[in-house]
Amino acid sequence: MNPEMRRVVTEAEAAAQGGWSAEEVAALAASTLNLRVDEPELQRILSLPIADHGFREEVFTTDPAFHASVFGLRAGETIPLHDHPELDVITKVLRGRLRVQTFEWIDAASLTARECGEVVIGDADDALVLRKSPGTLHVVTAIEATAFLDLFAPYYDDVMRPCRYYAIAGSSASGDIADGNMEGIQLRLVSWEEARSCPAPLTKP
Ligand SMILES: [Fe+2]
Repeated sequence: MNPEMRRVVTEAEAAAQGGWSAEEVAALAASTLNLRVDEPELQRILSLPIADHGFREEVFTTDPAFHASVFGLRAGETIPLHDHPELDVITKVLRGRLRVQTFEWIDAASLTARECGEVVIGDADDALVLRKSPGTLHVVTAIEATAFLDLFAPYYDDVMRPCRYYAIAGSSASGDIADGNMEGIQLRLVSWEEARSCPAPLTKP
């Protein structure tokens, strides 16, 4: 972690102890704008071992109120559709480029969601901010080898805020939906193993 990144992480951690306000989220996201890693650092991150959750992650700090880490994805690798229950998340690309397809809950109890579009973010772009309300889900795919900083407040836990993976209910193994209707998408919970086998839930017609 370089000094500038340490400064931002320290600031984010201090603010997270009372939960981030909307203003704090905006200020923290802005403060990540110039964060970068160079090519050797990207390669070091990409050489990290795959953690139990299935990704290369270097954790800077973690506790129930806050978590900061850097993830490394090789070109084409995907983090399957998952949610951030009750979490605010700031994602800043440090090097490379990501495609992020986001959804939000219409009704989390019945696992009904709507698609909110897709963005491509690179290291020159603003951080992606995903607020806890109305509850965001997303799929992250690396267009090229990418390292990104994730700041969470609070952080997942196994009981109250578990990280869950989803697929389109009734979708094919590749996740395509045939009718192109993006409203009221019915999701179903899947295991990590199944999520990995169909990481991209939608292919646009
Ligand atoms: Fe996420």
